[in-house]
Amino acid sequence: MNCLRLGISKNFNYLTMECRRLHLLKSQAYINGEWVSAGNKAVFPVTNPANDQLIVEVPDMDATDAQNAVSVATNAFQTWKDTTAKERSYILRKWFDMCQKNTDLLAEIITAESGKPLAESKGEVAYGNSFLEWFADTARHIDGEVIQSPWPNKQIILTRQPIGVVSIITPWNFPFAMITRKVGALMAAGCTCVIKPSEDTPLSALAAAELAEKAGVPKGVINVVTASRKNAAAVGKVMCEHPNVGCISFTGSTHVGKILYGMAASGIKRVSLELGGNAPFIVFPSADIEHALDNAMLAKFRNNGQACVGANRFFIHEDVYDQFVEGFKKRIGQKCILGPGTKEGVTCGPLINKMQADKVSNLVNDAVSKGAKPLIGGKFATDIGSKFYESTLLVDVKPEMNIYGEEIFGPVAVCLKFKTEDEVLKVANSTRSGLAAYVFTKDLGQSFRMSRKLEFGMVAINDGILSAAEPAFGGIKESGIGREGSKHGVEEYTDIKYTLFSALDK
Ligand code: SIN
Repeated sequence: MNCLRLGISKNFNYLTMECRRLHLLKSQAYINGEWVSAGNKAVFPVTNPANDQLIVEVPDMDATDAQNAVSVATNAFQTWKDTTAKERSYILRKWFDMCQKNTDLLAEIITAESGKPLAESKGEVAYGNSFLEWFADTARHIDGEVIQSPWPNKQIILTRQPIGVVSIITPWNFPFAMITRKVGALMAAGCTCVIKPSEDTPLSALAAAELAEKAGVPKGVINVVTASRKNAAAVGKVMCEHPNVGCISFTGSTHVGKILYGMAASGIKRVSLELGGNAPFIVFPSADIEHALDNAMLAKFRNNGQACVGANRFFIHEDVYDQFVEGFKKRIGQKCILGPGTKEGVTCGPLINKMQADKVSNLVNDAVSKGAKPLIGGKFATDIGSKFYESTLLVDVKPEMNIYGEEIFGPVAVCLKFKTEDEVLKVANSTRSGLAAYVFTKDLGQSFRMSRKLEFGMVAINDGILSAAEPAFGGIKESGIGREGSKHGVEEYTDIKYTLFSALDK
């Protein structure tokens, strides 16, 4: 039995009550309503990033397993697409209820495999569940249109039809919510799916599938293919190129997004891509600085900086720069408590893996070697573990430093000074990313100008968090294609069918 080490206790006592309670901890993949191994029986380890210990081994599936999963989802689509919107809504609502009831267990799994503090994991479950609730409602409002015909005795109607099997590829930073956000929408639309969760965090996806089954989601509607980094490319290729797949929905890096987009092109597949960001956080002199600081903490240190919408560059007007930087340093010192996510009071966990941790450290080291100054942090917290990086505030950052233009994806805040609105707009927009932007001002005209002129898919005025099920989440430029959440989220998974009824006088 190898599935019981959640890193919750130092005393790894197999088959304790704690473990038996964790019936959501799965060690098999989920295809056609069955818990299955890889065809060739291969497995790979899922470890706890806080202590590097094994949580469980899961199937290391390959291209053949992925093909099988797409076939299963194709069969399930034949019946799921003909269910009524009311039936789909009912099932989604039951899935929502199951996830709500199991919030604590889901949160433990999220913390064990992603490292985030338990309170944040519970927040993620609430956030993820909000998509199931939202799409349970939305399912009943995927309406068509009756168009005024330009011809006599003819009638035009537009209906929305499910696109078919959807390939879902999800990241490790929100291992539960990124699944419900996509699967809630596609199920509401009448589609079925194959999910390939990140190799770092497949357990949240499997737990979500278990709860979906208990909620009555029919066999084959949701399938979860687990695969290690070694097999990810081969599995991804099947998921993008299989002729039965209608849409590829991916959240992750721009680099991988471009590869998937290229593969999708060969079959002219629909893509929904939520990719990297490089969010500016802009503070004007009229802003309530204390409020801006509270929100800077949220925008930067939510999930320890590992969020596409996380603030990446803090642009502070010269009149309030010193006040902001001083307040930021103080808050980081007081509020960023580093440690394993299961420990009471911890607000910042480990980074997900060694590669991410090294990337963050290299960005800081490069900046410091070129003259940047860490006012707090700036190094690994090796006394806690191998992937803990101190919450860091860097000043004196210059364009020639790598950290100036790259997405940091870690707990490092970079503060830069500006003088004018035009200047900050120019530099904030000088990136190929265009996901989220944050602006703090009390000037109404300025807030409208910034909303219009910032080249980002989402702009928050006087707030550091903009994620929810109700608004349309998504980016422009190299931050992605398509929108998630909102009434538009289901559009990614439907085609508009135009039907002409003619000869109505005959
Ligand atoms: C992401 O960072 O990938 C998503 C974050 C969110 O949904 O708020």
